[in-house]
Amino acid sequence: MLANPQTRGFRLSPAPGLARLVPEPSQQTPVWCYDDRLPGPEIRVRQGDRLRVVVENGLEEDTTVHWHGVRTPNAMDGVPHLTQAPIASGEAFSYEFDAVDAGTFWYHPHQNSTVQVGRGLYGPLIIEEAEPVRADRELTWMLDDWRLTRDAAISDDFGSRHDLMHNGRVGNTVTINGRVPESIEVHAGERVRLRLINAANARIFALDFADLEPVVIALDGQPVTPHAPTDGLVTLGPAMRADLMLDMKGQPGNRVTVVDRFYKGLEYRLVDLAYAETPLREGAPGWPVELPANPLAEPELRGAIRHEVTFNGGMMGQMVMAEMGGSMGDGSSGGMMGNMMNMMRGDGIWFINGKAATGRVMDPLLTLPRGRTCVLAMTNATAWHHPIHLHGHSFRVLSRNDQPTAHREWQDTVLMAPREKVEIAFVADNPGDWMFHCHILEHQAAGMMGVIRVSGEEERP
Ligand code: C2O
Ligand code: CU
Repeated sequence: MLANPQTRGFRLSPAPGLARLVPEPSQQTPVWCYDDRLPGPEIRVRQGDRLRVVVENGLEEDTTVHWHGVRTPNAMDGVPHLTQAPIASGEAFSYEFDAVDAGTFWYHPHQNSTVQVGRGLYGPLIIEEAEPVRADRELTWMLDDWRLTRDAAISDDFGSRHDLMHNGRVGNTVTINGRVPESIEVHAGERVRLRLINAANARIFALDFADLEPVVIALDGQPVTPHAPTDGLVTLGPAMRADLMLDMKGQPGNRVTVVDRFYKGLEYRLVDLAYAETPLREGAPGWPVELPANPLAEPELRGAIRHEVTFNGGMMGQMVMAEMGGSMGDGSSGGMMGNMMNMMRGDGIWFINGKAATGRVMDPLLTLPRGRTCVLAMTNATAWHHPIHLHGHSFRVLSRNDQPTAHREWQDTVLMAPREKVEIAFVADNPGDWMFHCHILEHQAAGMMGVIRVSGEEERP
């Protein structure tokens, strides 16, 4: 893969800190962050390198670190009680894994996530291609959304019943790399590779780059056939990433306003790109934009193991289930959805196949034999969007509402619209117990998670 793979050492210390989210004269915000920085320090390695990251817990509570989207061995996945004991306050844990796939990833705790991620614990993890595609400049934007009080403190109403039952903890202040953005300077003719990472607990973004015509070159770190975003909007649910190639086609002195249009009637200006007086070049460079594929096993659909997965619950969930139950085609409205309604008891608000995971040790929802292709036919029988994330694997998104997807994109987190059906496929080649959950962290906390077990002999180094 790479001529000189190296072991690269890093340290991360999660602890309370202060961040200037909002410009002066507003006060600084007490946050929790890595190494006193928000976002946490960029971890950047090359594909094929081995990472060793020592995490020293400076919080007053347990934590872990999960390497979102990276196909690590199970023991390095950072899920408390499932793949490791939580790292207690004052203690350390050393993570070690190979950077098998190039791409845009990120790290965050998997312990008390609504609070720990919500207070600012996250950072970018960039794995460079052996031969990166050419750009004049590379930018990473970690998007986040905060619920701040008037004095710029984080509102402490984490886990409110309303947030749990509706669309999660959506805030009132959006930041790029831990700052309410001012304008960003660009140059006419410049080509920028923009890595977008949605680190928000719950906010979904749909970015409109006006006349810039972004080209999507990777999703969730994985290369995709370069294409214009659907409806011109780059849509990212929590935890999702997109790599864009942007050619700055405007004139010196121009401004481009990037607008987030996801929530109808609540569109707002995210940031302005301001062209400097001096152009970089005439016209756009003609460099190729297609990224080399990562070493993912190709799903073999013939003979694949197929499982149905249904998501239920939340506000108005009964209504949606009754509605969708009527169209299940089994001749009765009391079919699968009806049974599920009866199963939905207990503490949970959100359910996967009728079960809400609220305890710490969980029996697997599904067990997959190692090495087999698995198709998950997923139904969102709720009135809300859910970004569904599987650990330890990337999957191809095969279809939406029975229509094949245009790019069969690889993702690790797939955004499902209310009532939508999505089929994904992957080779279950990474043994262990893997989390499978909604990445709206309030939904996860209120039951929308489970464990998928890939059974087989664990390889020992
Ligand atoms: Cu971003 Cu279960 O994780
Ligand atoms: Cu959800």
